[in-house]
Amino acid sequence: MRQLWPHVVDDVAPYDAYRLGDAAAPHLRLNMVQGLDGRATDAAAVSGGLGGDGDFAVFVALRALADAILVGAGTARAEDYGPHRIRPSLAIRRRADGRTEPAPIVVVTRSAALDPAARLFGEARTPTVVLTCAAAPPERRQALAAVADVIVAGEDAVDLAEGLRRLREDRGLAHVLCEGGPSLNADLLAAGLVDEVCTTIAPQLAGGSGPGIVEGLTGRVDLALARLLTDGAELFASYRVARPGQAAAG
Ligand SMILES: NC(=O)c1ccc[n+]([C@@H]2O[C@H](COP(=O)([O-])OP(=O)(O)OC[C@H]3O[C@@H](n4cnc5c(N)ncnc54)[C@H](OP(=O)(O)O)[C@@H]3O)[C@@H](O)[C@H]2O)c1
Repeated sequence: MRQLWPHVVDDVAPYDAYRLGDAAAPHLRLNMVQGLDGRATDAAAVSGGLGGDGDFAVFVALRALADAILVGAGTARAEDYGPHRIRPSLAIRRRADGRTEPAPIVVVTRSAALDPAARLFGEARTPTVVLTCAAAPPERRQALAAVADVIVAGEDAVDLAEGLRRLREDRGLAHVLCEGGPSLNADLLAAGLVDEVCTTIAPQLAGGSGPGIVEGLTGRVDLALARLLTDGAELFASYRVARPGQAAAG
């Protein structure tokens, strides 16, 4: 993989390119793959047909760098999410950064409509977290509490700021990777909770009428280029997000 910005590095490992100076600092990073037409899904309505080998290398490195992997329930259901599994070579780097266990998957859901028998719960070495709200049916919350770590934050919808605070302060999960989907991304951006947006631009026009990487965002969010990498025909761009009332730091 080649880094083009902020300076040229001919052969860089994604773990090193994306590792922050303070690997333990609170940080929320989005990562999504898209076609050049901005579509975030392939003909089968999942993201799998968009990314190549480089995208997968970035995907696994970003997971290895994270304390927790946040995902909307729509994506967890559509993409049949399982628990985080880590390659031995990345596990060594992860341990050296003080992360001894795989990152928990944290599923954001208002409905709590998740199957307690799913592999996301039964096969997880680090218990999966369900981040839900008081409006979720109590019997579903109860069933999930038997197989997962359930956090209730907010009344009618998940209070994402409160949920992230509980992950950070009660569980020590400060560096969070969000893998989408597009609706959750919009809610996080609208709440001013995102520090960085990472995206793979796949060398294809995906076609169809699938969503973009952010859906339903009202208002504009300014970004500043933080990193640009290439691998074959794939481009990997990362942007810092401006905090409300500020320009994104360049
Ligand atoms: N290209 C990529 O990198 C990529 C990445 C991820 C997903 N995708 C694609 O995106 C599609 C899914 O899109 P989506 O927008 O439906 O996904 P999503 O954002 O993952 O899921 C939406 C669902 O997540 C829950 N949710 C999200 N934000 C919430 C909030 N603030 N409070 C409470 N619950 C919240 C709700 O679940 P409940 O319905 O359970 O209440 C909501 O219906 C799939 O086709 C997937 O393949 C692509």
